[in-house]
This record gives sequence, C-alpha cells and structure tokens, in this order.
Amino acid sequence: MPNYECIKVENENRVTTVTLNRPNKRNAMSPQLNEEMLDALTRLAVDPQTDVLVLTGAGESFTAGMDLQEYFRDTEHDPVLSERAKYVMREWSYNKLRFFPRVTIAAVNGWCFGGGFMPLVSCDLAIAADEAQFGLSEVNWGILPGGLVTKDVTVALGYRDAMYYALTGKTFDGQRAKEIGLVNDSVPRAELDGAVRELTETLLKLNPVTLRSTKEALRMSTDMNYEQSADYLAAKSAQLTMRDPERGRVKGLEQFLDKKTFKPGLGAYDRDKK
Ligand code: ACO
Repeated sequence: MPNYECIKVENENRVTTVTLNRPNKRNAMSPQLNEEMLDALTRLAVDPQTDVLVLTGAGESFTAGMDLQEYFRDTEHDPVLSERAKYVMREWSYNKLRFFPRVTIAAVNGWCFGGGFMPLVSCDLAIAADEAQFGLSEVNWGILPGGLVTKDVTVALGYRDAMYYALTGKTFDGQRAKEIGLVNDSVPRAELDGAVRELTETLLKLNPVTLRSTKEALRMSTDMNYEQSADYLAAKSAQLTMRDPERGRVKGLEQFLDKKTFKPGLGAYDRDKK
C-alpha cells in the first residue's frame, strides 16, 4: 500500500481497517482524501488478506462531510477540477464501496455530516457510538443533500425520518440512528471497537464467497420486480456454486447430513474440516 496522507490502512487477521485520517479537519473529505480512498479501495478489492473491511474515522469524528474549503470553494471556478472532485467522490463512496467484494462495516465513532452519509450507507453494516452525532446539515448552509445523499437517506430511512432530518438539519445521536435504522447498533464509544470486533469475528467464520454473493444479491434485487428477482437469484445461486473454491454448500450438507457435526440453524459449518 502507498503511504497515504489523508487515510490510514491497517490489516490484522484478515480484517482491513481504513481510517479517514484528517482529525484536525474532523476528517472532512477533501479531493485528496477522496483520491486516496479510490486508490485504496481499488487495491483492497483484490487483496487476498481482506475478508472484511471496516471504515472509521480518526479522533472525534467519522467525517464532517465534504471539505467545504477544498472540495467546494477551491474547485468552484475550475469546471474540470470540480467535475473530477465529484467523480472521484462518487466513484469511491458509491461504486467501489457499495459493490466492494467483501463485507464492509462502518464504525461511526463521532461526527457524521452531509456527504458522510454516502460512505455510511454504502457500507453493508454499521455500528455507531452512542455519542456520535449525525446530521444532514446541507440545509443549514443553503444546499440540498447532493451527490447521492438524498437517494441514500430515502433508501436507508423511512420517508418521514428522511424528510425530517433533511428539512431541519437537526443532529441525532447513535441511539437515534439505531432507532431509525440508519445503523445496526449503537454502543457507548468505549465499547465500539469491541462491538466491531465481535461482528467481524462472526463474519470471519463464514465463507467469504458466500458473503459476497449474498450482499450482491441483496443489493441488486432491491430494484427488481419479483419475476426479475426470481430469475436473477436462481442465476446468482448457480454462480455462487461455480465460483466458490471451498465448495461450501457441499461441505455444509456433508457436515449436517452425513457427519452430523454441525447444525446449520445455529452457526457456520467448520471451514477447516476436510
Ligand atoms: N470542511 C472543511 N473544514 C472543516 C469541516 C468541513 N466539512 N469540518 C470541520 N472543518 C475544520 C474547521 O474549519 C477547523 O479547521 P481549523 O482548525 O483549520 O480552523 C477544524 O476542522 C476543526 O473544526 P471545528 O469547527 O473547530 O471543530 P468542532 O469540534 O468545534 O466542531 C463540527 C466539529 C461540528 C463537525 C464542525 O466543524 C462543523 O460543523 N463542520 C461542518 C459539518 C458540515 O456541515 N459539513 C458539511 C456537510 S454538507 C456536505 O458534506 C455536502
């Protein structure tokens, strides 16, 4: 991995943690940070050491949203720069992150504003600190939630909550984020790392190829009708069987039906057993 200035990438036991790392700027997403995220996610997508990806922020912030100086003001008189900045932001936080071939978890440690909702919603799972503060603050300074933030909140939240927070710009904490379904769980800040670790340990016991197909299936079928979904999911299941080097389906059936060593209702099959 290159030496990045605005992000930090660490790997431990097949979990890669990517930290937005501009704590003095509350991890605001500058064009440079966005370029680095695009580069890192492109590399990590084919990294054999990455089975789970965690996205978090350094210091007291997850991200304070787009960098109002560097992303907005510094690019506003240069159309090429401005287009490039928007393109790269959308490319990493939507395309690369949403369709990342491994499970992704947002660990929301603190402030999460505006454009920060894009990577947050793109992650498959999210755990917040109770103390985190979320806000669709765009309305506070005269813009609407652009990029894909508006779309993200209408998908992730119910209509009333999406409208309420977009129209008032009011902040809400981790517990409220959990109540409205924006995150899976919220725990005291001191317990956030432990909660993320517990979740990654569960995921690491599962077949990563099955997880990949499962997340792709959920993402893609959301926008299909029933007939399309049935056809797509049948093809997707066949693809999973073909692309799984571990032959998880066969192993699972053998361990339950023949060896009687596990119960599929209660946990994962033993991936190491021949
Ligand atoms: N863009 C650029 N710089 C930022 C941003 C940002 N989004 N957020 C914080 N900073 C900078 C500040 O300018 C300040 O820089 P300086 O020390 O060089 O003056 C530094 O980060 C610390 O910020 P403070 O405001 O002093 O930190 P504080 O902890 O008091 O407040 C808070 C944190 C609430 C996050 C505040 O900084 C804030 O409101 N930031 C903007 C949040 C926002 O609305 N983002 C835009 C969302 S809309 C969009 O993303 C499209």
